Amino acid sequence: MYLELAGLVTGVLLVAFLWTHAFLVATVVFGPAAFDGMARFLEDYYLSHAGIGLGLVIGLVHVAVVARRVPAGYRAQRTVWRLAGKMRHTDTYIWALQVVTGLVILVLAAAHIWVVLADWPLQAAKSALRVQTGYLSFYLILLLVAEYHAAAGLYRLLVKWARFRRRSLARAIGAAAAFILSVNLAALWALFYFGGVR
Ligand code: HEM
Repeated sequence: MYLELAGLVTGVLLVAFLWTHAFLVATVVFGPAAFDGMARFLEDYYLSHAGIGLGLVIGLVHVAVVARRVPAGYRAQRTVWRLAGKMRHTDTYIWALQVVTGLVILVLAAAHIWVVLADWPLQAAKSALRVQTGYLSFYLILLLVAEYHAAAGLYRLLVKWARFRRRSLARAIGAAAAFILSVNLAALWALFYFGGVR
C-alpha cells in the first residue's frame, strides 16, 4: 500500500513538473528576452536549483517504486504480450505502452538533463542553438513519449482511485494532453525559428 501511494504521489508530482516545464520553456514564444528573464528569476531565487534537485529525487523514488511492475526478463515479457494479445483489452495495451515509454524516458531524460546542466545557466540562445543543430528530432521523440506516459499514468491512476466513467476520463485527459503538447510544440517552433541564432 505504501509503495502504491508513493508511486501515485510521485507520479502526480512528475506530471506537475512536466506541465510546468512546458510553460516555462514556452516563454520563448514571447521572445528570447522573456525566456532569459524567466531563467534569471528562477536562478536568483534558487527556484531552478530547488526544482531540479526535488525533481531528480522524486523521479528516482518514482522509478524505484514502480519498477516492480515491469516484467523482468524476456520470458515474463513475452508472456505479458501473449496475454495482452489474447485479451485485446485497451487498458492493458495502454499499460504495456506506458512501461515501454517509461523505459525510453529513463534514457532520453537522463541525456537531456545532462546536456542542459552541462551548459548551465539557461539561456534562450543556447537552447535555440541546440534545437537548431540536431536536437529537434530528439526533443520531438522525448516530447511524445513523456506526454503519453504522463497522460496514461494520470488516466490509470484516476481509473483506479476515483469514480469516473472511463470514456469521459479518457476524453478529458486526451484534451489536456493535446493542449500541453501544443504548448511544447510552440516552444520548439520558437526555439527552432526565432531563437536569434540562425
Ligand atoms: C530536470 C531538469 C530539466 C531542465 C533544467 C530542463 C530544461 C529544458 C530546457 C532549457 C529546454 C529547452 C531546450 C534546450 O535547452 O535544450 C528543455 C526542453 C525540453 N525538455 Fe527539459 N528540462 C528538464 C527535465 C526534463 C524532463 C524530465 C523531461 C521529460 C521527461 C523534459 C522534456 C523536455 C522536452 C520534451 C523538451 C523540448 C521542448 C519542449 O517540449 O518544451 N525535460 N528542457
